[in-house]
Amino acid sequence: MSGYNKTRHQQPSAEELYKVTTARLQKIQSQLADAPQGIRLKDKICVITGVGSLKGIGRATAIRFAHEGAKHLYLIDFDGTNLPNLKSTIETTYPDVKVTTLQADAADEAAISGVCEQALREEGRLDVFYANAGVASRNALADTSAETFMNSMRVNALSCFLAVKYASAAMKKTNPSRGKENSGGSIIMTASTAGLRSGAGTVDYSASKAAVNSIAKTSAYQLQKTDIRVNSICPGLIETGMTGETFEYARQRGSAGKIGQLNPMGRYGIPEEIAQAAVFLASDDSSYVNGQNIAVDGGLSASHPVAPGRWV
Ligand SMILES: NC(=O)c1ccc[n+]([C@@H]2O[C@H](COP(=O)([O-])OP(=O)(O)OC[C@H]3O[C@@H](n4cnc5c(N)ncnc54)[C@H](O)[C@@H]3O)[C@@H](O)[C@H]2O)c1
Repeated sequence: MSGYNKTRHQQPSAEELYKVTTARLQKIQSQLADAPQGIRLKDKICVITGVGSLKGIGRATAIRFAHEGAKHLYLIDFDGTNLPNLKSTIETTYPDVKVTTLQADAADEAAISGVCEQALREEGRLDVFYANAGVASRNALADTSAETFMNSMRVNALSCFLAVKYASAAMKKTNPSRGKENSGGSIIMTASTAGLRSGAGTVDYSASKAAVNSIAKTSAYQLQKTDIRVNSICPGLIETGMTGETFEYARQRGSAGKIGQLNPMGRYGIPEEIAQAAVFLASDDSSYVNGQNIAVDGGLSASHPVAPGRWV
């Protein structure tokens, strides 16, 4: 019994944990920034949607893909404001990486079939499609309109369906003159822990992300024997443009230490931690990973809510 008590008293306070968290996240960011450039995505032709947010998962992933030697990145967002900055940031640091930005809706069929055709026309092949664009909603069930529900389904789920449909058709095309002897590729989608369990999002958002997780499994099955892999990433709480307001509010109220406390790691995550999972899935490092919903959430979806100090 005394052993249990001892452990309980050793639990750091929320403020102490927050200091440890911010130091840990800074270290992760500087380690990634200082890492030598890699070759895990060498020569790969990639599309990423939802890259326009300065603090978003899409932008962080585009930069990591460039760091790992991707040949040509087609980068899409419906908000064009930050696309020129992303293009110049990548081209300045990685002059060998070609960047094409497109202001388009990720749930628009013509835009998605168009970018896949463009990649085939310009590069002769398509290797990776990361369908990451998404929107969150706020309202409780009683205040959620049918229109809001359908918008979440359109932006979050239809965009992924279109990505899988048109990217897989492009990835099946062989082109020996461009080094592609056989069909193959990797399609990645951003779902959410909200698509795995309740308690992490609104009904419409969670349903749309559950649909994304299903698309990963069902399309992997439909694309059998093509060497086209389809997987989803289920992030936990990540500080991005989408969640920024919540973080700011907590910091202003002095309760930042409570952010992300519900998972076993006791902290939130940063976009680079999702980008690293996307690099893994985009690269041949994951050549036998297919049809999976991969949680990158500090253990949130593996655990009942953590009550610090309560059970130990
Ligand atoms: N931040 C989190 O805690 C979290 C957790 C789980 C899942 N996600 C998912 O991660 C993905 C990326 O979100 P983020 O957290 O980086 O948020 P973000 O708001 O910072 O970035 C999302 C980007 O998607 C773009 N976008 C939205 N709708 C679009 C559309 N129809 N077409 C093209 N672009 C569109 C936005 O303009 C924005 O640039 C989303 O799918 C989101 O649902 C985020």
